[in-house]
Amino acid sequence: MAQSAVAVRRALHSHPELSWEEVETQRTILERLRRLPLEDVRAVAGTGATALLVGKKREPCVLWRADIDALPIPERSNLPFASRVPGVMHACGHDAHTAIALGIAEYLSGRREDLPGSVRFLFQPAEEASGGAERCVAEGVLERPNVARVLGLHVSADLPLGTVNVAPGPFFAAPTSLGIRIRGRGGHAASPHQGIDAVVVAAHVVVALQSVVSRMTSPLESVVLTIGQVRAGYRGNVLAEEAELRGTVRTYRDSVLQQTLANVERVVSGVTAAFGAEYELEHRTTCPPLENDAAVAQLVREEAEAFFGPGSVVATPSMGADDMAVFLRHRPGCYFWLGARNERRGIAGRHHDPGFAIDEDVIALGIAFGARLIERSLRDLSSP
Ligand code: NI
Repeated sequence: MAQSAVAVRRALHSHPELSWEEVETQRTILERLRRLPLEDVRAVAGTGATALLVGKKREPCVLWRADIDALPIPERSNLPFASRVPGVMHACGHDAHTAIALGIAEYLSGRREDLPGSVRFLFQPAEEASGGAERCVAEGVLERPNVARVLGLHVSADLPLGTVNVAPGPFFAAPTSLGIRIRGRGGHAASPHQGIDAVVVAAHVVVALQSVVSRMTSPLESVVLTIGQVRAGYRGNVLAEEAELRGTVRTYRDSVLQQTLANVERVVSGVTAAFGAEYELEHRTTCPPLENDAAVAQLVREEAEAFFGPGSVVATPSMGADDMAVFLRHRPGCYFWLGARNERRGIAGRHHDPGFAIDEDVIALGIAFGARLIERSLRDLSSP
């Protein structure tokens, strides 16, 4: 079973598809789901897929979520199953998530007489863009039967194979994109006093923004503010009339996000005014912070220690983002990292990088451990 799951992963890996374009991926998933004794096998959210495995009863129902999309990154590897699509790569492991979920569906299909409930499998499109999870919820994946618990995993290129990272409460942050447009006045570079140099204003704004987290936010709160892009000017001997800054804010708590955005606006408005420039500020929060249910996170931790052995679990939240958060806003559950790094075998890449790589043994481990979590959850939920 693990071998066939690895074959699926390799097939998906060599034909990666971007968010909302997962057409062949969806076809592969639906075709494999239709070979199993599942109900309600269908497309969802455009390019996603879902199916229901019914055990002895329809409820309780546990949802297992996998994301399926790839990234606009060119693959740099010599693997025989490397991406054949120029500029597109499964550089976050969603191909492995898909293979693991299909493997769990196959494995639990053989044990459905013993399952005290049902399992909703969800292959969610467009995690890397945004809106995939919301659309799945809007199309009713959490209902009929009612989903009591949501589970899912992300393979990790940072964590060694055979280890798990899980924690209760905030585990991923809410990502908010920032756009700041600064308008000065152009002119000849030799007569700077006649213009308003947008490059100099932008530079002051970037430096002043560093104080939003370090000087205006409680040191006990978790916030990131990064300006990742600066664009301005025409050439070296012309004053730039406009500058554009793009960045991201990451937060766990809504009140902290509101306070951070208010501080950003005050700093931008004050600094630009000091130089006689004008500004426009826009921001967009694309997904909520991800909160793990305390009891379910504890269950995952216990099962991980039993399955992978003592000392195999760490509890390290991150300021990254994942729209699994959307499902966990609607239903209690848990999302966790499963280690896939193996330095002994030279597998040591980074997420969202052309050199991203996983030890494929994580697929068999993911299937066995995921099935174990689902079975334990159904047992717990069906005992009064
Ligand atoms: Ni990912």
